[in-house]
Amino acid sequence: MGLSSTLRCLLFFLGTCGICSGFLQENCTDYQLQFERVFSVPGDVAMLHSTLVSPDVFNFTSTPYNITWYDSKTGQEINNQAGRILVQGETLWFLRVELEDHGEYVTILRTPSQCYMQATKLVVDAPVVGDCGRPRKGYQTLTKGATDVLSCPLSDHINKLESYSISSSVQWYRGCELIEDGKGKYTYWDMIKLKIDNVDFQNNGSYTCTLTFTLGGVTGSMSETIDAWVREVYSLVPQVHEPGNQSIKAQIGSNYSQRCLVFVPCVGKPMVDIMWLVRNDFVMTSNPADRIYVSEYREWSQDVSPKGVWFERLLMFSELREEDLHVNYTCRVYSYRGLPEGYFTLLPEDPNIILPIGLLLGSMTVLFINSVIIYYLFKVDIVLWFRGAFPVLYPNKDLDGKQFDAYVAYPQPCADGFSEKVEEFALHTLPQVLEKACGYKLFIAGRDCLPGEAIVDSVEENLRASRRVLLLYTASTFISKRHTSSTSSNNNNISKSSENNQGKTTDDSSMNYESDKDVYSYTRQPFECVAAMHRALLEGSLKVVLVELEEISPAQLALFPESVRQLRKRQGAVCWWKNLRKRQRSGTCIRRREDEEKGGQDTQLSPSISPSSRFWKEMRYHLPVRGKRVVFPEKTALLNL
Ligand SMILES: *[C@@H]1O[C@H](CO)[C@@H](O)[C@H](O)[C@H]1NC(C)=O
Ligand SMILES: *[C@@H]1O[C@H](CO)[C@@H](O)[C@H](O)[C@H]1NC(C)=O
Ligand SMILES: *[C@@H]1O[C@H](CO)[C@@H](O)[C@H](O)[C@H]1NC(C)=O
Ligand SMILES: *[C@@H]1O[C@H](CO)[C@@H](O)[C@H](O)[C@H]1NC(C)=O
Ligand SMILES: *[C@@H]1O[C@H](CO)[C@@H](O)[C@H](O)[C@H]1NC(C)=O
Ligand SMILES: *[C@@H]1O[C@H](CO)[C@@H](O)[C@H](O)[C@H]1NC(C)=O
Ligand SMILES: *[C@@H]1O[C@H](CO)[C@@H](O)[C@H](O)[C@H]1NC(C)=O
Repeated sequence: MGLSSTLRCLLFFLGTCGICSGFLQENCTDYQLQFERVFSVPGDVAMLHSTLVSPDVFNFTSTPYNITWYDSKTGQEINNQAGRILVQGETLWFLRVELEDHGEYVTILRTPSQCYMQATKLVVDAPVVGDCGRPRKGYQTLTKGATDVLSCPLSDHINKLESYSISSSVQWYRGCELIEDGKGKYTYWDMIKLKIDNVDFQNNGSYTCTLTFTLGGVTGSMSETIDAWVREVYSLVPQVHEPGNQSIKAQIGSNYSQRCLVFVPCVGKPMVDIMWLVRNDFVMTSNPADRIYVSEYREWSQDVSPKGVWFERLLMFSELREEDLHVNYTCRVYSYRGLPEGYFTLLPEDPNIILPIGLLLGSMTVLFINSVIIYYLFKVDIVLWFRGAFPVLYPNKDLDGKQFDAYVAYPQPCADGFSEKVEEFALHTLPQVLEKACGYKLFIAGRDCLPGEAIVDSVEENLRASRRVLLLYTASTFISKRHTSSTSSNNNNISKSSENNQGKTTDDSSMNYESDKDVYSYTRQPFECVAAMHRALLEGSLKVVLVELEEISPAQLALFPESVRQLRKRQGAVCWWKNLRKRQRSGTCIRRREDEEKGGQDTQLSPSISPSSRFWKEMRYHLPVRGKRVVFPEKTALLNL
């Protein structure tokens, strides 16, 4: 109302001044002053544009019309002036604006029957000294942390130029400084836009875009300045965390649900929609009766960096069917920053493989345990077979300096514990099998040593020349006839010897050479036994094989020297008496209850001289590999397994 009265006043004023000719006499439909002002500065191009050519005004496709521009100050019609003014129908160009151009310009549109009138205002501001931008500024916001754009407000002008096939170019300035395309965070984009990556507060400021083109023979430009305000409130591209484009195994017939989990990095409340799509159709229903349905949103905010809001929306199947498999289920987020999405596919569940794997593992365990048991039961046979089958593995080491495979020790005649049966075994049965049948070389004390030799020296020497010691004994071998009367002195001796040896630190007095000597002194057991025990137990240099000719009861065992008991406990003994019973037992001679009950009944020695019997196999197992020599102790341990 104010504007139109201003114009009327102006027109009246012009009219009364009589300067005006043409347009005031006509009875035109008055569209009055356009609200949009045109701002310019001296030297720029300014474009004035009338909106009368519009279907709202008249049917311009069917009706012929003429447009004339008038300067309201002079009332004169405006005509083209080279390099200054260009009239193009409803568009009036000032190619080089001057301060005097400031004012209103009137458009009159005439059809054969009608006349329309409109005024447009051009505002020409004097430039501000020291400011490269335009005095009139628009403002736009930039979002901190986002990739954001500034949009040059000259798109109308570009479109107009394009309609006349006039090319133009845009340049951006920050303050007075030209922004180069692609430099730093800035990219020229989409004709009239400036893209700024990862906006921060330094991007706050004035930006000017300048449009340059050639029109009417003149190269001109026009500019707009934008104040860019960087805001902290933002909402970035939503991130779809679930589903992660994967295939999921599911059981047909069961219910199933998959959540869509979305994180929107933002400050303030983000505007997003989360939709589930199946075969490009939205799942809208949240009614479980519809079989495939969605839940309501659930949302919660995250206050620690990165700040934002989480959204969750479930896609649910009340019962999975075959047709639901191998289909993409897509969760799509609608936001003004884009439409990120994630999808998943359902696959039929594999048959349960835990059971077969369990069975396999179980049977492998059983097999392993069986192998171990079988190995222990048939260790002797396996090792002997191995020695026979792979003699290559047992290198011939005849040069280990030893003369005998075994030193056979047993109570000599006249000594306590002497037994004819033992001697018979040592002098006849042993050589018959081991020497004649198996080819071992034995040193048998009562056979191979000359009577009257210095016993101690000869024993030491021959022990050293032997690879094993076979210690033959019966229940009575270690038991003195005077034993019962000297039990107390035994204890005394041990305690005395402990006192004697206070300087030495031995955990077990039985392993003490002196103490064994004491035992020897009253049991008069063969000296070589003591020496061999000593070396076997303390030095580990000599392997002693215990050969038990009679069954030993625990009571009898208790009277054995400690060193023999220890050795017997540790490595067991080879039991001749078991061979006599024709029973095959494991190598240890630890008595069982039922054995004990039958004890004494079958302690008779009778020759069983087949080398393939259990007893001889065990003997061969304990003896060195025949004819081959093993020198290194670690190898011995390995191959004598
Ligand atoms: C102008 O036109 C209007 C209607 O469009 C009419 O009422 C008025 O009388 C006319 N005036 C003149 C001077 O022709
Ligand atoms: C304009 O005139 C043409 C031709 O007479 C006609 O087809 C069209 O419908 C008219 N448009 C309007 C908006 O009246
Ligand atoms: C437009 O102007 C031309 C010449 O100036 C004239 O011949 C024509 O009749 C005019 N048309 C209308 C609709 O006024
Ligand atoms: C951003 O720039 C405008 C001027 O362009 C200034 O008024 C405002 O204080 C600036 N804001 C910040 C946060 O720097
Ligand atoms: C899933 O696929 C969509 C488009 O197919 C892709 O935009 C999105 O980054 C993918 N998500 C993942 C986690 O790979
Ligand atoms: C899915 O089935 C299980 C039992 O099979 C039930 O506990 C659960 O509540 C069901 N879920 C839905 C969403 O129906
Ligand atoms: C699911 O969508 C992905 C990517 O959008 C496509 O590669 C795949 O072939 C689709 N699978 C099915 C079964 O439609």
